[in-house]
Amino acid sequence: MNRPSSQPSGFSPRPAKVLVLDTSAAVAQAVASHILSKVKKSPASVLGLATGETPKPVYAALVAAYRAGEADFSRTTTFNLDEYAGLADSHPDSFAAYMERELFGATNFQPARVHLLKGDAADMGEEAVAYETAIAASGGIDVQLLGIGSNGHIGFNEPGAPSSSRTRLVELSPSTLEANLSSMTALGAVPRQAITMGMATILDAREIILMATGARKAEAVAKAILQDPDISCPASLLSLHPNVYWYLDHDAASLLDNART
Ligand code: PGA
Repeated sequence: MNRPSSQPSGFSPRPAKVLVLDTSAAVAQAVASHILSKVKKSPASVLGLATGETPKPVYAALVAAYRAGEADFSRTTTFNLDEYAGLADSHPDSFAAYMERELFGATNFQPARVHLLKGDAADMGEEAVAYETAIAASGGIDVQLLGIGSNGHIGFNEPGAPSSSRTRLVELSPSTLEANLSSMTALGAVPRQAITMGMATILDAREIILMATGARKAEAVAKAILQDPDISCPASLLSLHPNVYWYLDHDAASLLDNART
């Protein structure tokens, strides 16, 4: 594949576009710049957004750009990746509440263009189909932001998730339950199920940004980039996609000798 002309400089060209930066703050700044340049160029872009600890400083940078008058999100559409099953959007531990705190509440994204999966939908099957329909009706996701689980999950597509999977209700793996417990404020336990975009939904995005920081992610990152695509590591299926940018800090890239820049 040729490097697209819009590709930020510094990426190793093959086998994946990997940018390794010194610190997690530098990773967040670079990802924020990537997103901001997309939105500046195409204000009506459709963004796929992720939650978790890793993207928080990206959202802080987007908020700072908005406050400085350097960004306008009023025409931008968003679709979040996933939500815990059973949590209403008003629940402080829901990803809807996270998005409101970290990004939407401090910027001018328009509620009518913000799409979040409803964790407390009466019928999760219907919710999933409606979400896929809304993504298609928006024209598809232009840029999908992803984190990665230490088990290689993307969204809540846990190991074993088929590459053909679409938005659906899933069971969370024990390692995900454990990893997410520390971010729960109001619950004694992490919900055991979630609704998530599927692998095929993610792979349909025109461009994908995966960001990973910290040594805890090094093994999953190495598996995903260096091994053949296999559903035992969902992120490895990203190598089936022609336009994935990996933004890593040195710790997350530490098992990727060939990819260091
Ligand atoms: P984290 O989660 O950013 O909180 O590490 C990432 C993920 O599980 O996808």
